[in-house]
Amino acid sequence: MSDPQVLTSQALTAIGKAQKEEELERIELDYLGRKSGHISQMLSGIGKLQPVERAALGQSANEAKRAIEAALAARRAELEAVRLADLAETEAIDITFPGPELGRGHIHVLTQVRRQIETVLESLGYQVELGPEVETEWYNFEALNISAGHPARENWDSFYFSPELLLRAHTSPVQIRAMQRLKEPPIYIITPGRCYRRDAPEATRLPYFAQVEGLAVDKGLTVGDMKGTLLFMIQSLYGRERKVRVRPSYFPFTEPSFEFDVTCGICGGMGCKSCRHKGWLEVGGCGMVHPQVLRNGGIDPTEWNGYAWGFGIERMAMLKHDVDDIRLFYESDLRFLEQF
Ligand code: PHE
Repeated sequence: MSDPQVLTSQALTAIGKAQKEEELERIELDYLGRKSGHISQMLSGIGKLQPVERAALGQSANEAKRAIEAALAARRAELEAVRLADLAETEAIDITFPGPELGRGHIHVLTQVRRQIETVLESLGYQVELGPEVETEWYNFEALNISAGHPARENWDSFYFSPELLLRAHTSPVQIRAMQRLKEPPIYIITPGRCYRRDAPEATRLPYFAQVEGLAVDKGLTVGDMKGTLLFMIQSLYGRERKVRVRPSYFPFTEPSFEFDVTCGICGGMGCKSCRHKGWLEVGGCGMVHPQVLRNGGIDPTEWNGYAWGFGIERMAMLKHDVDDIRLFYESDLRFLEQF
């Protein structure tokens, strides 16, 4: 039979050496386990002892048990403290420490250009009017004097949901919606927005792009009014040295119709590689609103007339920043976008 004091000192040594809580559990079981722990074993023969010896052994066994329990508890507390200290060092999050810097984004160059156009035209009294990107055939074509089977329809070939419903191919349908909504001229609106065409992506065109349409309906408007407005817009955006010109063209919804050009910013109109030696860059179409279009918008063409234009926002951004490939705007390459 082992001596309680020897047992105790063995246990205390083992406890002092233990580095993990699992080790302490094992030691506890070894010494204090109910069935086969050293203390229980020591007491197994107690029944055969004389009463005096029995009491003495019982007492020292109890003392040993208490001493071991106390040592276990103390060591456990120590190990726990060490564990927490380690944790504090290795996994601490110091909430007072400044975090990694969040890079600041900025407005996309196309949005910047759109807002600049809006600001310039708002300063002339134009209001921003929006329309749906999913349009009916009637608004996209018929109302704009492009009847079914008209060869000009090919220029605005789009994506159809049904024979009646399509992605709008230009912002011109909003001319009609604006006239219907506002009813009473004078009307001065611009309508920026996304358009879609069945075109393969290349350096100068994409199947999705944005336009900004302008519409003025008033009394006695002239091509001069239109050209002056557009000259003011172009020079406000690109600088006073830019010149503009209109060339005769054809749109079913304007009469007369024009293409609208701006002098190249790189060569100043002299002709260079970037403008294919023309000196001019095409921005979009414009013209005097066709009387039938006014009628389709619910406005009497004998009393009122108007002008309208539709420019590509990407083209205008290309013109402003001398970008030579329209696809760059949509590739989300930060090396490109961070320049603006
Ligand atoms: N809607 C025409 C286009 O997308 C542009 C335009 C608008 C022309 C208004 C004249 C007047 O090509």
